[in-house]
Amino acid sequence: MENKINKLKELRNEALMGGGSAKIKSQHDKGKLTARERISLLVDEGSFDEIDMFVKHRSNDFGLDKQRISGDGVVTGFARIDSRPVALFSQDFTVFGGSLSETHAEKICKIVDMAMKIGIPIIGLNDSGGARIQEGVVSLGGYADIFLRNTLASGVVPQISAILGPCAGGAVYSPAITDFVFMVKNTSQMFVTGPNVVKTVTHEEVTFEELGGAETHASKSGVAHFAMDSEIEVLNSIRSLVGYIPLNWKDKSPEKSFDFEQDLIVPELDDIIPDNSNKPYDMNEVIKLLLDGSEFLEVHQNYAQNIIVGFGRVGGMSVGVVANQPSVLAGVLDINSSVKGARFIRFCDAFNIPLLVLEDVPGFLPGTEQEWNGIIRHGAKLLFAFSEATVPKVTVITRKAYGGAYDVMNSKHIRGDFNYAWPSAEIAVMGPKGAVEIIFKKEISEAEDPEQLLENRLSEYIEKFANPFIAAERGYLDDVICPRETRLKIINAFQLLKTKVDQNPKKKHCNIPL
Ligand code: HXC
Repeated sequence: MENKINKLKELRNEALMGGGSAKIKSQHDKGKLTARERISLLVDEGSFDEIDMFVKHRSNDFGLDKQRISGDGVVTGFARIDSRPVALFSQDFTVFGGSLSETHAEKICKIVDMAMKIGIPIIGLNDSGGARIQEGVVSLGGYADIFLRNTLASGVVPQISAILGPCAGGAVYSPAITDFVFMVKNTSQMFVTGPNVVKTVTHEEVTFEELGGAETHASKSGVAHFAMDSEIEVLNSIRSLVGYIPLNWKDKSPEKSFDFEQDLIVPELDDIIPDNSNKPYDMNEVIKLLLDGSEFLEVHQNYAQNIIVGFGRVGGMSVGVVANQPSVLAGVLDINSSVKGARFIRFCDAFNIPLLVLEDVPGFLPGTEQEWNGIIRHGAKLLFAFSEATVPKVTVITRKAYGGAYDVMNSKHIRGDFNYAWPSAEIAVMGPKGAVEIIFKKEISEAEDPEQLLENRLSEYIEKFANPFIAAERGYLDDVICPRETRLKIINAFQLLKTKVDQNPKKKHCNIPL
């Protein structure tokens, strides 16, 4: 037996070395960690339980029969983050550049299948040269097997991807289907076709980083939800994200203990809204004052900054925050902010995370660029996402709620559970000036003193509509509250809504406007 155990140890040690020490050094020289180093930083110490360590590829072409490395370029298994279970895979660039073979794909599929049966999140650490070129279509088939599983797992268990090296060609579509994509600045790239092909086809000269680096995807394309300076930051942020989300769609988010006896009044909130309603302010300040410990994990921080989305806690409960940002484009809704908001809301609804909506929105962005690119279709996604969401939904209108945007931002009419407004709220079909110029056009043009008449009508309109009380009279708002009471109100609301039950009609699936 002792010999056999020693042999096992030898084989394990061999597998642990992946592509060998020279390749490990080369990986470190590129500023990257190895697959196993990444896992050990990501999960609770000593919790990783590896499977399929001895899997080897089956290919005999192009001399591959002489290079069979245990593990075949991907480390897979189960572990714990803050004592909660996760499934994970970590591609090993030291073995054939982390390229995906038939067996490499089988290992990933096995992990996804197990995670779905058990009901635990899947974390993929990607670092790969793509399809294993020597294996041809078998490798492409392996990718398709993974894409199918990512799709079927969507909404069943949370799926998180980190891109920690190259991710090119069709390989990008696995992370793209998952719920969150993390990237590292300067060492990770994602693109469907690389700079050389781009140059041949479109004659554009572009670097790898410009084309598909972390900053590009976190600010321009929106493909990446998080762009970090280092792998360690990525791995730490994945740990925090996991702390806000449930294990699967039937599970509840982890709740932190909370002292309900503490003072929940926040006087600073009374001083945030400027006297001039056209002056911007930073909605991040409101968010931080409302959340427990001011802790906020912002998602898509650098993309479509006119809307803010992210996770925090209210009275110990995990919530998803969706907030207009008046300090960027006056908080207007446009194509990118609508899509960003919709995707986040759908994640929260799929995984039972209540939604806190902070509203200050002058409307949808006008212009040919927006219309021709489909603001109707994309804005509809945000409306659809809020409308179909059955999780607890609480809205606070801090200032503007104009036009269609009033309806869209989780109004009472689309099943907002508690809708509050601050006294500074302005709720109307459109802003005062535009409205008065339309309804009194004839009267103003015929007046002896048009400017004075415009002034008078403007004051009347502001007096009548630019306030929350007409909506409150109708019950479209449940209450008009002092800003300082907001934290108390939302904590109470989410506590009460813990047992909320609501459902949508039975169907095969919905048809969100894509
Ligand atoms: C087999 C690969 C490989 C691949 C890299 N290697 N990519 N082996 N199949 N796809 C091997 C290299 O031969 C090398 O082996 C080792 O991995 C490290 O690669 P290097 O080139 O030395 O590393 P680096 O300079 O860092 O460059 C990394 C790279 C480059 C940018 C990823 O290797 C590269 O361009 N690879 C090909 C990428 C590609 O075109 N893939 C197919 C995309 S299409 P040795 O033994 O020399 O160390 C695709 C389709 C998916 O993936 C479709 C799904 C629908």
